[in-house]
Amino acid sequence: MTITLPANAPKSTPEAFEYVGSMGPQVTIDDLKILALVEALGLELYAKMAEGTDNQAVQDLLMENGHEELLHAERVSQAIEILTGEPFPIPPIDQNPIYTPLPVSEVTRDSLGKLAEAEFAGQDLYAGIAASFDNADAKALFLQNGKEEAEHGNRLAKAAKLL
Ligand SMILES: [Fe+2]
Ligand SMILES: [Fe+2]
Repeated sequence: MTITLPANAPKSTPEAFEYVGSMGPQVTIDDLKILALVEALGLELYAKMAEGTDNQAVQDLLMENGHEELLHAERVSQAIEILTGEPFPIPPIDQNPIYTPLPVSEVTRDSLGKLAEAEFAGQDLYAGIAASFDNADAKALFLQNGKEEAEHGNRLAKAAKLL
């Protein structure tokens, strides 16, 4: 399966998060494709992060977020199909064109706090995306993701307190 992305598409995990962070206010279908691929990195990135702590409860919270990120990728993919009529299947991680592995680093209260901020910002991001499109079904999928990003922030804030 070949995924066609625009020339300015990110080529690495850090670039991909930067791209998503600067998206908007009018979000395009190409933006949505990159967003879907970024969400699809989430499980792998959270799993890698969980390796950076011995605290089982923190690991569990990280993995709950990770599994939901994959669900987010599926919802964005569904929205792309609704909006374009063309399927955009989520590739396995080793075929994700924007994925580059990140090093394992120690999980700290501070690192979880920063990540919680990024997750909370995800709710606003999805609200902006929902406002960019008229289709009610697509909007509902974006808003559901946004609601869960806020829950991710809450889970990370809870995890931070455990360290
Ligand atoms: Fe997400
Ligand atoms: Fe998230």
